[in-house]
Amino acid sequence: QRTAVVTGAGRGIGKATVEVLEAQGVRVVGVDLAGADINADLSTPEGRAALEAGVLELCPSGIDVIVANAGVLTDDELSIQVNYFGAVETLERLRPMLRADAPRVVVVASRSVLKPVDDAIVEACLEGDEALAVSLARQSESRHLLYATSKRAIARWIRRNAGLPVWAGAGIALNGVGPGAVLTPMIAERDPAEQARLAVERPMPLGGMATAEEVAELIAFLADARNSKIAGQLIFIDGGGETVMGHEDI
Ligand code: NAI
Repeated sequence: QRTAVVTGAGRGIGKATVEVLEAQGVRVVGVDLAGADINADLSTPEGRAALEAGVLELCPSGIDVIVANAGVLTDDELSIQVNYFGAVETLERLRPMLRADAPRVVVVASRSVLKPVDDAIVEACLEGDEALAVSLARQSESRHLLYATSKRAIARWIRRNAGLPVWAGAGIALNGVGPGAVLTPMIAERDPAEQARLAVERPMPLGGMATAEEVAELIAFLADARNSKIAGQLIFIDGGGETVMGHEDI
């Protein structure tokens, strides 16, 4: 039986991913702030260590899939801490536990990687300098860029790392997904005016907003052994919205 670790498993895209994987016969170990198989706050060093210890304990013979999904949509440093450093540490700490038979890793990034970002913070992230990235985020005068900045950084990390000997060279397919607007609690809990603003900013030409299940189906494919050759890609799942947005270089 394949075993997957899914972060942010408690609701939204993470919860839907757990359901799709379990329906396919995969054993899933869920990670979240509370109420999960492993409770860990991935914005902190302690939480990231607790994730690693928890997976070692629950999966002593190893794992096959990592889905780094946990994320927050905030205008402060928390986006950098969770969406970039939390994700990267999830991948780096769990990578040695991946078994040899079709190991697969999926990061939930975002279509917002295409938006304007704070380049100095992206740079600090890719240097692995969390203290600097957080301090730049705290001083930022363009805090509305911080979410997209965290996602651009993780997308670039995927592109830089996926082809290396420790990833593709070791048989591990590492990919990202870039959802457009998905109707999850992250969006639904915002006030109607902000939701309306987000809807205008986030075009979804093919049939409107996505459901969490639609994104989970893509994640499950990338996580499956049938995905034998896709690696290093950021796959937008946004109803073609990316084609009608202004582009930045990823
Ligand atoms: P959500 O807010 O509904 O669920 C996120 C889950 O992650 C929650 O269960 C939450 O407790 C958990 N989480 C948050 N911070 C955490 C931390 N520090 N440690 C451990 N777990 C933590 O969000 P949703 O929409 O399901 O988002 C999942 C991923 O998809 C995120 O990375 C988000 O940025 C990304 N995404 C979402 C889009 C949307 O429109 N909903 C669009 C593009 C990307």
